[in-house]
Amino acid sequence: MASKIAPFVFRSAFRSSRVASRSQWRTFTASTRASSDVLHVHRDTPDNNPNIPFKFTEQNEKLINEILKRYPPQYKKAAVMPLLDLGQRQHGFTSLSVMNEVARILEMPPMRVYEVATFYTMYNRTPVGKFHLQLCTTTPCQLGGCGSDAIVKAISENLGIKVGETTPDGLFTFSEAECLGACVNAPMIQINDDYYEDLTPESIVTLLDALRASAKDVEAGKEAKIPAPGPMSGRKTCENSNGLTSLTEEPWGPEVFRKDL
Ligand code: FES
Repeated sequence: MASKIAPFVFRSAFRSSRVASRSQWRTFTASTRASSDVLHVHRDTPDNNPNIPFKFTEQNEKLINEILKRYPPQYKKAAVMPLLDLGQRQHGFTSLSVMNEVARILEMPPMRVYEVATFYTMYNRTPVGKFHLQLCTTTPCQLGGCGSDAIVKAISENLGIKVGETTPDGLFTFSEAECLGACVNAPMIQINDDYYEDLTPESIVTLLDALRASAKDVEAGKEAKIPAPGPMSGRKTCENSNGLTSLTEEPWGPEVFRKDL
């Protein structure tokens, strides 16, 4: 009778020899791949180097004190993101000096702050124009409505710049963004802090013209009229543009009973 143990012994020996011969390298990398169009390294430039002084304004220092109250003192580094945001709003972009000042205030190694600032795309590490156009080109926006490709083309033709560039007058910077969470009103764009949705090539050009006019008004000391954010199609939010298809009857109040019962 054939031994029942032999196959087990053979299998075990084969398994251990296979494990021993397996090379000891890992299949994952410890750092992110630089696949974005933004270089994940810093190079000193005249407008972004550690010798440029940066201090928060008195008003922002008050805000920082308020923000820090949200965290236990030993965990104040948790405030790194709101402080970087504040620094970016004050300085115009998240320069090296902004990051160093945030590190100093939060008593963090500067490298930890650089890691946060380079991970999140909302921190602009190079100067941007007065209006930062961040067009979503993720699949729902690429497929919804007229599609984001048509909007890219309309913006490029109107401003004379490609994605990643700034107009010579410093008014517009054009960036591509991943999903901004408003897919239901695709295609959409974020301009500074506002969302403009349900775009068409015509409506984006109207929007750019209005922004240009508002910048001129500010220069002339007049009140700027920035177009109201939201859907540009007439929808209020993300309701069905063909009207209601369900829940069209008066809802029963809590004390109304069905008549057929
Ligand atoms: S895909 Fe554009 S907002 Fe989500």
